[in-house]
Amino acid sequence: MFNWGFIGSGTICKNTSKQMLKSGKHKVSCVWSRTYTHARELANSVGANAYATLEELLNDKTIDGIYIGTPHSSHFKYAKLALERGIPVLVEKAFTLSYQSSLKLLEIAKEYNTYICEAMWTWFAPSSLTVKNWIKENKIGKPLLMKSNFCVPNLFRPKERIYNKLYGGGSLLDLGIYPITYAYNLFGYPDDIKATARMKNGVDLECNIKFTYKNGLVCELRSAIDRLGSCSTTIIGEEGRIKIPAPMHCSRKAILKGKEKIRYHDSYPYGLYENEFTLVSEEIKQEKKESSYVPFSSTLDVMKIIEEIKKQIGLSYDEANSL
Ligand SMILES: NC(=O)c1ccc[n+]([C@@H]2O[C@H](COP(=O)([O-])OP(=O)(O)OC[C@H]3O[C@@H](n4cnc5c(N)ncnc54)[C@H](OP(=O)(O)O)[C@@H]3O)[C@@H](O)[C@H]2O)c1
Repeated sequence: MFNWGFIGSGTICKNTSKQMLKSGKHKVSCVWSRTYTHARELANSVGANAYATLEELLNDKTIDGIYIGTPHSSHFKYAKLALERGIPVLVEKAFTLSYQSSLKLLEIAKEYNTYICEAMWTWFAPSSLTVKNWIKENKIGKPLLMKSNFCVPNLFRPKERIYNKLYGGGSLLDLGIYPITYAYNLFGYPDDIKATARMKNGVDLECNIKFTYKNGLVCELRSAIDRLGSCSTTIIGEEGRIKIPAPMHCSRKAILKGKEKIRYHDSYPYGLYENEFTLVSEEIKQEKKESSYVPFSSTLDVMKIIEEIKKQIGLSYDEANSL
């Protein structure tokens, strides 16, 4: 049994905690959240203790690892506190608000010799790893074009954090990070990056990104928080194509049409959050300090790409004064 301490009690914390319990490999030991009643509600629903202060959670010696599911703006400070106590930590995406603070956090992890991993669940998922193998095995020939869309409107129950700059809001960090990480994982760091955005109140409602590679490959990536898109990904090569159906960031399927035709559907008995928590807990038990699924180089390179996009679209976060 792996004992998790949860920081946060919102949407992602509710979803991950309920799903991870299904395998019987995980326990949510304790929850701390900004609002105590919210922590208590989540704790009650999963048989955990609710703490009124963060200090109590950090001092709980039964914890094997901490999961941080709060807004982007607060990831750095909570992860730093966990690392300084030598507690392994799984931090929701986006890792932090900037490349510089991501680098700093990884330096702290090295200093305290403690595991940290960005919860980029797509890259723990069997279907994404299968797609990566197909590309490596040249199953569609030379890749020419990738189109990836993650546009989900947040109109009916708007969350403050998504539209508020002080929480690290905007489509890029919330949704765009998935197509970016997908393209990076398949094809590496792009040779050229171009980005445009539709901005409101200092955050990007929509972001359109184009990666170009010296070999001619182009990746067209799109995210939006105020309109719906296909939420799927297509990769076209000289000898075939791959389709990753919606939702592309957590798809359990991938379809290959090339010299070979394969309809892949993973057979994992639990959900992909459970898969991520299980693989991370195994790495922590093995005393690893870095994940082989989401290595530091991936988190840092993606944050560097995001930094360039932020510069081009005029998006900036004030890390010192964020919420
Ligand atoms: N992997 C995925 O599929 C996925 C999906 C959605 C979100 N996410 C990521 O998960 C994170 C949270 O997103 P969410 O949609 O769950 O957000 P959410 O529903 O708005 O919940 C945010 C939680 O963080 C707490 N919080 C807010 N501001 C805080 C602060 N300054 N300090 C401490 N706690 C604070 C809230 O506390 P109280 O309610 O107690 O006040 C709430 O429990 C983000 O990084 C997001 O990108 C990942």
